[in-house]
Amino acid sequence: MATETGSGKTLEALYREDRTFPPSREFMSKANVRDPKIYERAKKDLEGFWAEQAKTLHWFEPFQKVLEWKPPYAKWFLGGQLNISYNCLDRHVKAGKGAKVAYFWEGEPGDTRTVTYEQLLSETQKAANALKELGVRKGDRVAIYMPMIPELPVAMLACARIGAPFTVVFGGFSAEALAGRITDSEAKVLITADGGYRKGNVVPLKKNSDDAVAQSKTIQKVLVVKRTKQEVPWTKGRDIWWDELVGVQKADCPAESLDSEHMLYLLYTSGTTAKPKGIVHTTAGYLAGVATTHSMIFDIKDDDVYWCAADIGWVTGHSYIVFAPLANGTTGVMYEGVPDYPDKDRWWAIIEKYKVSILYCAPTAIRTFMKWGAEYPQKHDMKTLRLLGSVGEPINPEAWLWYQEFIGGGRCPIVDTWWMTETGMILITPLPGITTLKPGSATFPFPGVEADVVDDDGKSVPLGGAGYLVITKPWPAMLRGIYKDEQRYRDTYWSRFPGRYFAGDGAKRDQDGYFWLLGRVDDVMKVSGHRISTTEVESSLVSHPTVAEAAVIGREDPITGQSIFAFVTLRGGNNGDESLSKELREHVVTKIGSIARPKTIMFTPELPKTRSGKIMRRLLRDIANGQALGDTTTLADATVVESIRTASASGKDD
Ligand code: WT7
Repeated sequence: MATETGSGKTLEALYREDRTFPPSREFMSKANVRDPKIYERAKKDLEGFWAEQAKTLHWFEPFQKVLEWKPPYAKWFLGGQLNISYNCLDRHVKAGKGAKVAYFWEGEPGDTRTVTYEQLLSETQKAANALKELGVRKGDRVAIYMPMIPELPVAMLACARIGAPFTVVFGGFSAEALAGRITDSEAKVLITADGGYRKGNVVPLKKNSDDAVAQSKTIQKVLVVKRTKQEVPWTKGRDIWWDELVGVQKADCPAESLDSEHMLYLLYTSGTTAKPKGIVHTTAGYLAGVATTHSMIFDIKDDDVYWCAADIGWVTGHSYIVFAPLANGTTGVMYEGVPDYPDKDRWWAIIEKYKVSILYCAPTAIRTFMKWGAEYPQKHDMKTLRLLGSVGEPINPEAWLWYQEFIGGGRCPIVDTWWMTETGMILITPLPGITTLKPGSATFPFPGVEADVVDDDGKSVPLGGAGYLVITKPWPAMLRGIYKDEQRYRDTYWSRFPGRYFAGDGAKRDQDGYFWLLGRVDDVMKVSGHRISTTEVESSLVSHPTVAEAAVIGREDPITGQSIFAFVTLRGGNNGDESLSKELREHVVTKIGSIARPKTIMFTPELPKTRSGKIMRRLLRDIANGQALGDTTTLADATVVESIRTASASGKDD
């Protein structure tokens, strides 16, 4: 088959990687999971496997039934009652671990805070009482738009404590993107900060919040953490300083007893249309799923210092900075800023300073560090590292090997973890004490996870072949739907191959059954590991008064995986120039955020279309990637090809 992946490669054009890395005897002998029979056991008794995991949580009421699967809807641990913040905090403090560090936090300017479990519990209870005082009740939605500061997990835990589903919006999103998410979730309260630090500059979070709230009919109160201390616009009666409200609350707010399927959060992610989808995650299955995978995949021990270097605004941060590590009572590192402030060795300085033993980050970061050079990590003592992780996009074998050698000192296993916002938890991954690694492969489905690679007709592709990745059995942290859009939930994930979850990724299995992820097969780009919809960028471009039409594609990029390349046709047959290109790129930043800024804009008199009017994306992809043009006979007007080929590319690197 010649199915196309997002990067324009056909699934047949595959890399062969033959090097293998079995776990060291040393690692294997101490690993949390040592017995390969775990796979068989979980396969034979999926419900039993997960029930055993879920029983390690603290329940106010035990669950009666493990799973109810009425495709495409799953319910897990039915009849049970629990609270996530209790599981993440109270439970550890009651067990005498209150003085253990939950987060070593480091701000970008170099200020630091050490937060123990006891302190986190006390802050969370105060924040929960503050939310109650603002009128937030069980079931009400709260929007959160914050920098990477300890008040962010506190806000999430406080919401979870009172049963108020929250939606965290990444601080790099624009006011408009924030407004859209607030509107869709009908949030009552927004929690934000005056600003956040990024590369020495202040991100104006409060200003953006004000612009977003101006478009919202539902926000009643805005709770503002003081972080950067610059002057901010203020609306009396609506805006409240966090310090002034949270600071005066009682540190006593019992955790609500919540149903297993109570909504924990909504997280918006890009799909193939212009409108982001609100992915719904619930309580018990989610917590059991993330805590189990975290402990088994990262081999978490009581004395580990674990650093997931993602932003909490993405699902990686929700699951593996906040909920799983806290549920497992882990000591974590949290860092506010960019990797090259004040210099390109910031991460390695942090690892040395806090004696980090586990690092989890994205291939884009690794490729950037590769470009900067090994001298930066080599300036620091990183011997405490014992395990490395990768997530967000396929990791090329070269980056894998560099990561292993220059960051891991040749001694750390690398867990390449495949999952999605929708899956909530890691689904395809090595188990570091068992799995023989192959650089670039996410290896095998986690115990209890059933995955397959299928062709266009849904038939399983034999080993050695490529196709679409599907998940064939429910898993506890799976999404429970798209908020207020049941039809889209069915259409997006369950209609392509009925009864099976369609991930939207291409995959291949080699002769040994290893999974190799090949990138998106839909109109979703992966830029620096961030998921961005081509349609969303196109529609923001056409909202500019000069633009008639736009087509956006992901172009291969050695550092960011893909970069955004936009073909733009102007109204009235006008020609574009450098200054308009700049204006359009900034226009997208205003509409969506800087992560979506097109790297290149090419002005063309027309876009190539098929006779039925469909934009020929494959052709545009070839042009953007500088490849030879394919068959052009389906063109509405063959001269278009020539004209867009000769059109001048404009734009520059950031
Ligand atoms: C998409 C999901 C999961 C947290 C971060 C991204 C890609 C994710 C891998 C990996 C190859 C990967 C897929 C997936 N992806 N992890 N280890 N190898 N590709 O979450 O923003 O929901 O994106 O990220 O294409 O569909 P997300």
